[in-house]
Amino acid sequence: MRGHSVLLIIGGGIAAYKSLELIRRLKERGVSVRAVLTRAGGEFITPLSVAALSGEQVFQDLFSLTDEAQMGHIELSRSADLVVVAPATADLMAKLANGHANDLASTALLATDKRVLMAPAMNVRMWNHPATRRNLATLKGDGVIFVGPGDGEMACGEFGPGRMAEPLEIVAAIDAALALPGPLSGLKALVTAGPTQEPLDPVRFLANRSSGKQGYAIADALARAGAETVLVSGPVAIAPPPRVKLLRVETAREMLAACESVLPVDVAVCAAAVADWRPESLADNKIKKGENAPALTLIANPDILATLSHGARRPALVVGFAAETENVIAFAQEKRLRKGCDWIVANDVGPGTGIMGGETNTVHLITANATESWPQLDKSEVGVRLAARIADALRGNAA
Ligand code: C5P
Repeated sequence: MRGHSVLLIIGGGIAAYKSLELIRRLKERGVSVRAVLTRAGGEFITPLSVAALSGEQVFQDLFSLTDEAQMGHIELSRSADLVVVAPATADLMAKLANGHANDLASTALLATDKRVLMAPAMNVRMWNHPATRRNLATLKGDGVIFVGPGDGEMACGEFGPGRMAEPLEIVAAIDAALALPGPLSGLKALVTAGPTQEPLDPVRFLANRSSGKQGYAIADALARAGAETVLVSGPVAIAPPPRVKLLRVETAREMLAACESVLPVDVAVCAAAVADWRPESLADNKIKKGENAPALTLIANPDILATLSHGARRPALVVGFAAETENVIAFAQEKRLRKGCDWIVANDVGPGTGIMGGETNTVHLITANATESWPQLDKSEVGVRLAARIADALRGNAA
């Protein structure tokens, strides 16, 4: 379970106190937990306890500007690997079964593209009510997974089904749900990211401003979709995504060797800003400051994208990037043909776009048949969408 993330929606029931224990048990197992506390849930446990145990901000209000500024409700619902509702009240089940979205919890449930696991907790009469029976059947038909409820004495003094599953039972159900295959399960992905550094002497190098954020987000999304993912990264200042095998390199030649060591793969996404040239020679010692500035002779680096695209062990799908400052689409279309890759993700990195090093990206996806312009999106969302498109292509659902 380590490295997975769960969005925990805590509904309003006395069983909410068990959700605090659930957070503890998940954190112990290396699962990160972000919580939504419904208004009714907040009558039973405090946001402070949830925040203290989860180590994350607690989200409570659909219309809170501060919450939305931290993380929009759509992203909140999509950034986790699994959405868990515990306790799932009769009301929350009814809302999702009928598609209501009138508070943060129900909106997140409707907006998510991830699996949903519910741990119902309610009075036995409510559980047995025909309306709840109908909602349960609808939700199961929609693919919602259930754990519990158990039989026993209830806080209201009655006896029967309706007790929320115990935290460790919910942990086991979460473990099983996370292990279910994703759209890219069984497939292998290679992603390059970050800049390369081309040394001049032992202390100096040529490099570029790539932060690696977009490539890391793509690797994260591919891994979350179930692909066995290897990320070949130049030097960057960001943490590797969980469940991704990271190969650190410095130069373009090292990056190519690392990529070739990973073949065969089903898909390669070359998001690295590989230095096109490197100094012809590498000085053994630091070049001393003299009268005249030293001349720098550059030679071409291998083109990793073109090499993978034309190689004998070509991945079924090869995706390149094109960072352009003018004629973005036209240059990218030409680049797709020249490099021999299947798709190009093109973006405008001109001064003032803030894309280099920024959190968002505005891209065009260029395939053999079409050019799609995506709206401005978080780099993580670009990763999620691209992973979904890759899954469609590799599973034969799309061109
Ligand atoms: O030719 P240009 O550098 O603009 O092409 C960008 C695309 O090519 C990116 O996908 C980048 O990762 C890849 N590339 C590469 N090896 C190089 C240069 C670029 O893989 N030496």
